[in-house]
Amino acid sequence: MLNCAVLGATGYTGIELTRLLLAHPGARVSILTTRQEKPIALREVLPSIPKNISLEIVPYSFDEVKKKADVVFLCLPHTEAMATADQFLNAGKVVIDLSADFRLKDPKAYPEWYNVEHTFPGRLKQAVYGLPEVNRAKIKKASLIANPGCYPTGPSLALIPLLNKKLIDPDFIIINAASGVSGAGKKLVAATHYCEANENYNAYKVNKHQHIPEIEQSLSEAAGRKVTITFVPHLLPVSRGILATIYATLCPKVTEAMIRKALEIAHAKNPFVRILEEGRSPSLKDVQHTNFCDIGFSIDHRTGRVVIFAAIDNLIKGAAGQAVQNMNIRFGLPEEAGLL
Ligand SMILES: NC(=O)c1ccc[n+]([C@@H]2O[C@H](COP(=O)([O-])OP(=O)(O)OC[C@H]3O[C@@H](n4cnc5c(N)ncnc54)[C@H](OP(=O)(O)O)[C@@H]3O)[C@@H](O)[C@H]2O)c1
Repeated sequence: MLNCAVLGATGYTGIELTRLLLAHPGARVSILTTRQEKPIALREVLPSIPKNISLEIVPYSFDEVKKKADVVFLCLPHTEAMATADQFLNAGKVVIDLSADFRLKDPKAYPEWYNVEHTFPGRLKQAVYGLPEVNRAKIKKASLIANPGCYPTGPSLALIPLLNKKLIDPDFIIINAASGVSGAGKKLVAATHYCEANENYNAYKVNKHQHIPEIEQSLSEAAGRKVTITFVPHLLPVSRGILATIYATLCPKVTEAMIRKALEIAHAKNPFVRILEEGRSPSLKDVQHTNFCDIGFSIDHRTGRVVIFAAIDNLIKGAAGQAVQNMNIRFGLPEEAGLL
């Protein structure tokens, strides 16, 4: 049994991860931590647990986590994970970081997009971007896994196969994505208050969302050249789920069959990516509470563009589920363990 620590266990991704790990056949929740001074009964934040589980979320202590865990999951806000990850890596632990602190390869991107200097830039090279469908081989050997962001996951899974095969123009990619409110985390922010979000639909952080460089980094690797995108996130008044609607210009003579073949071949062995049949477009209801990413597309012959849809649950494939998938790969467990 693999001993797992979840730091930031009271937050949305921490709660979801704890729920998944408790049901995992090869993992044990060995310690859950909080910044609070007193222990919190897990039941208070996760009331759905069986009555024989009496776990507590305990005040954070580096030594306790070091003693009790083989793998340390960081479900902490951006910038909080930098030093913590470094400490556990020095202690020989495998770290799976759900924040953005190790996702970007270029340290200069942190002051630009996150308003902070990276305090451990040396670790950025070592970190493996934890998109299993693309980096499975590297994840198997990684000690620091940078779990992808919720918005980047769907568009990356949809677009990387098409850029690899040079089927779409890297100079014209527009991503409109709508996320459920849990994407913003548990902390109180006026924009996500019930009265602001309910029955509303609005764009935010237009052209300046911090996930832009992460998406561009993945797409540039796939295209073999720099890719810049237009990315417009929207807040959707549902609790969870992201639907990305992506517009791309087709390269000359590219047909619907070529797009389908590229997606189906790329994801044939990926248990959590489902390419929908012609005429079906993904729906949040089909992916909520699952680790699936559903992808559908339609070609607009009039404009020479393809419209691609990718749907995920932000807290599962976009965070905790993907983190468990990464743990499974890293420790030689079946990739689907605890996730189906
Ligand atoms: N929400 C999503 O859909 C999603 C998806 C992918 C990635 N992520 C990333 O995953 C990380 C966790 O996200 P989340 O949605 O779980 O956030 P959250 O609900 O706000 O929870 C974060 C937890 O971290 C703890 N914490 C430790 N230091 C903190 C500090 N200085 N300020 C505030 N909280 C602190 C808090 O727990 P205590 O107060 O108990 O210590 C809090 O419950 C973030 O980096 C986020 O960007 C989130």
